[in-house]
Amino acid sequence: MRKILVTNALPYANGPIHMGHLLGYIQADIWVRAMRAMGHDVTYVCADDAHGTAIMLRAEANGITPEAQIANVQKEHIRDFDGFGVHFDHYDSTNSEENKNRSSEIYIKNREADNIAVRPVKQLFDPEKGMFLSDRFIKGTCPKCKAEDQYGDSCEVCGATYNATELLNPKSTLSGAAPVEKSSDHYFFKLPNFAEYLQKWTRDEGRLPVSIANKLDEWFEAGLNDWDISRDAPYFGFEIPDAPNKYFYVWVDAPIGYMSSFENYIKTKRPELNFEDYWKKDSKNEVYHFIGKDIVYFHALFWPAMLEGANYRTPSGLFVNGFLTVNGQKMSKSRGTFIKAETYLEHLNPEYLRYYFASKLSDKVEDSDLNLDDFVQKVNSDLVGKVVNIASRCAKFINTKFDNKLSATCTEPELVQSFIDAGASIASQYEAREFSAAIREIMALADRANQYIDEKKPWALAKQEGQEQQVHDVCSVGINLFRQLAVYLAPVLPTLAKQVQDFLQLESFDFASRETILVSHEIALFQPLMQRVDPKAVAAMVDASKDSLAAPAAEPAKAEKKKEKKAAPAKVEPKVGEAEIITIDDFVKVDLRVAEVLEAAHVEGSDKLLQLTLNVGEAEPRNVFSGIREFYEPQDLKGKLVVMVANLAPRKMRFGISNGMVLAAGNGEGVWVISPESGAKPGDKVS
Ligand code: 2FM
Ligand code: ZN
Repeated sequence: MRKILVTNALPYANGPIHMGHLLGYIQADIWVRAMRAMGHDVTYVCADDAHGTAIMLRAEANGITPEAQIANVQKEHIRDFDGFGVHFDHYDSTNSEENKNRSSEIYIKNREADNIAVRPVKQLFDPEKGMFLSDRFIKGTCPKCKAEDQYGDSCEVCGATYNATELLNPKSTLSGAAPVEKSSDHYFFKLPNFAEYLQKWTRDEGRLPVSIANKLDEWFEAGLNDWDISRDAPYFGFEIPDAPNKYFYVWVDAPIGYMSSFENYIKTKRPELNFEDYWKKDSKNEVYHFIGKDIVYFHALFWPAMLEGANYRTPSGLFVNGFLTVNGQKMSKSRGTFIKAETYLEHLNPEYLRYYFASKLSDKVEDSDLNLDDFVQKVNSDLVGKVVNIASRCAKFINTKFDNKLSATCTEPELVQSFIDAGASIASQYEAREFSAAIREIMALADRANQYIDEKKPWALAKQEGQEQQVHDVCSVGINLFRQLAVYLAPVLPTLAKQVQDFLQLESFDFASRETILVSHEIALFQPLMQRVDPKAVAAMVDASKDSLAAPAAEPAKAEKKKEKKAAPAKVEPKVGEAEIITIDDFVKVDLRVAEVLEAAHVEGSDKLLQLTLNVGEAEPRNVFSGIREFYEPQDLKGKLVVMVANLAPRKMRFGISNGMVLAAGNGEGVWVISPESGAKPGDKVS
């Protein structure tokens, strides 16, 4: 029996689980269930990724301690995973004693192996907040095109990349203060020490998808750099041993959380397991991490290097999934397609989504699309129309006419055997994470089962004299075929499988259990197994997702990656009541006017801007570039009345001159253009 430890990427403890996250969690959960059904000993753990600046600031914004923040979010995460049948053996937090100890140990072993360096780093420092600022927390004027309000790493207008210290007129987005340059000692992990090791490691059989190994080669060719693993206080995390006020960067202790969650699982739930058996250098047990493609860098370079440097085993393989789009586009709050797990569960059966994802997933690192119309169609036609239909067509006869008992002989042994035999290839497709292929094969079997019942027409036979036995035999074969399908679908649809197992009164639903054909077997009363997806419920879910715009956290899945660029809410605006006080004299200087959008168009080369042609009641229309592309399609704006600042000094941008500014409400997560009631005319003064 293979002993396997499986993990999922640890979600950040600062925001809710959403559809994008669920793709990877459902994928891993299906794999774990399938491997268990094949008889392997699989342990499946996860944890919340609890450290970092983003979580510290989120707690501060919520007026609670980071500990309270992560405890609240952890409860929500556990509830959501549970709701989707993602069943971890253990769910921990990276902010645990065990993780602290393990992180220190791995660090110290690496230090002893001369894999750690210390040197000063100059960074911008917020004198008011008393903290160093990562690029995401600094805004200023682009040194190249002079566009204002640009982040510390790159300009969204001209696309230039630069160091935060090059920004003109920089400001801390946390306090508004002008940051000062300051130097402090940073701790580095000497990744180049592992260049040769990693180059080989990433090419080891089964370790990584080949497409990813190819991508990593580009990094090897460019040369690996030392990795900055420390952050100065204040930082929510673990202090580095022998380095007061220096903390491990969140990405150091996050993957170590895989180990410590497993350690806590053993301590609290399975003392007979041995930690070393899984993590010692030459362990024969297997360890797999399911991750999204955005965090490959951390898992395929830093993580194996840290483990190797500390004399631990490295993962047997990384299973990498792509991103999720909804209706062909990036999930969007304004379109209502940024769907939280919680919102989904209020409207729809989680097994619909598990099935839909399974029908899309393969071992390739490809993005998947949740097309909501296709979702309704596929679930209704496959699960309800094909699979459940077989049972409902046959069970009622067995229940009502044959005292709940199946026939004493199977009259179609070859047909049933062909279903049993198909299990070998379905199992290997599951194991290879070729879920879509497994689903295709299962649905082809479902078609054959329905075809058999269509041909035999038990409902017609039941009306004929002397055909009782025939009805009994056909329905018994039907139930046997249905049982095979339910066993094959069990990793994807655990709740449905449990209902079927109860209905069929079977002790086991493992893959091997399917090999005995059910004869003279008593079944329970058939209960409806699954309702059709109601498109109205899907529409209601999308509507409710539009309502949840003010919910905390934007896109936690991508936050904190690479220099924590996305670690902060997209824009930290002062809270109401916290903005600088201005006088009425200041206010009247702003000439606000009603404008009509004559034209709206995408701007080539910018994924942020729309180009607007505005009628402000002047002889010539105005040209204005507005950073609302993510939130509006051009056709939605054409003909609309908006409010603009008409006396803003013209701004030269890479794409042309912007002559004014359109007003919009925003909270860092969405943007809504402000529009006057009908009746207002272009050029009207707004006050
Ligand atoms: O990208 C993310 O959402 C991270 N919280 C994933 C961490 S995975 C592991 F390394 F802990
Ligand atoms: Zn610029």
